[in-house]
Amino acid sequence: MRITVSIPERPDAWIAGLRRELPQADIEAWQPGAAPADHAVVWAPSQQFIDEQPALRGIFNIGAGVDALLKLRVPASTRIVRLDDAGMSVQMAEYVCHALIRHFRELDGYQADAGEGRWSFRKPRLRRDFPVGIMGLGVLGQRVAKAVAQFEFPVNGWSRSPKQIEGIRCFAGEAGLDEFLAASRVLVCLLPLTPDTRHILRRETLSKLLPGGYVINVARGGHLAEDELIPLLDEGRLAGATLDVFEVEPLPPEHPFWRHPKITVTPHASARTLRDESIAQIVAKIRAVEAGTDFDALPGVVDANRGY
Ligand code: NAP
Ligand code: GLV
Repeated sequence: MRITVSIPERPDAWIAGLRRELPQADIEAWQPGAAPADHAVVWAPSQQFIDEQPALRGIFNIGAGVDALLKLRVPASTRIVRLDDAGMSVQMAEYVCHALIRHFRELDGYQADAGEGRWSFRKPRLRRDFPVGIMGLGVLGQRVAKAVAQFEFPVNGWSRSPKQIEGIRCFAGEAGLDEFLAASRVLVCLLPLTPDTRHILRRETLSKLLPGGYVINVARGGHLAEDELIPLLDEGRLAGATLDVFEVEPLPPEHPFWRHPKITVTPHASARTLRDESIAQIVAKIRAVEAGTDFDALPGVVDANRGY
């Protein structure tokens, strides 16, 4: 079995880990003209890579989001498999709960007071006034929803197909979107980026949140109509935003998001790919398909028509 690897950062560490787990396989970094492989392990490969590897059975993405891969022309016979958690959901739960609680408990205000040696309490706010809406109830969204519910915030969730999840008020599809937004004050985006979800965070939708709306975008920069956010904050229609992902990454130094007092920026760090966990998951899947398991039986197989 031949495996080709196209990963921009530290490909050698990935190759060493894959070789350790699959000593019988021929595993090499891809380069133009490389021999045809059976499987690929990738992050954001080029169209040339895909064009030169038409016989791939599986492309194993080292992230959860496959928007970069689905921009490419991939042969219908090649299946794309994304990471299925692999240590990301707990990181995402930590990040979102931190951003939510920092906002809800006004910790930035206390920090500013501390800087001036001021001992002053803020009036306690009520959880029932801060219902949290999670867009996307997949692997990451469900874990985040449950973590937020543990802190006794009311939690709403929105997905494409209807769901029933204990403790979460679930909404689905286009028809359920307005009601979901109107019932939510803090909005967390954990959707895949697809033609249906691009710019789903825009003036029209964000204006439907409860007053004092707060946005946490941890999915993709393309979900947010970036030009529409600062006016909503400056008008007081939104109270603030925590943004981990951006249309252009790295976020350019001159971008106004860096310096806006109501925006917190992190560098696409909310849920990092963990190499060892990811290699273990990918290797288990490669072993399974090599032993005859159908790709469709694997968790995380992408439906290219659906876009995730
Ligand atoms: P997932 O398991 O595929 O879940 C996607 C969820 O979104 C599903 O609940 C799906 O609905 C819902 N959805 C998709 N299209 C929709 C639409 N048009 N309307 C309503 N709901 C829709 O994905 P995941 O593993 O949770 O990951 C989600 C995303 O997080 C990834 O695609 C990636 O972009 C992002 N991410 C970011 C980071 C970071 O560091 N910032 C790290 C990892 C992932 P159904 O349940 O009905 O299918
Ligand atoms: C990171 O953004 C991922 O999609 O895994």
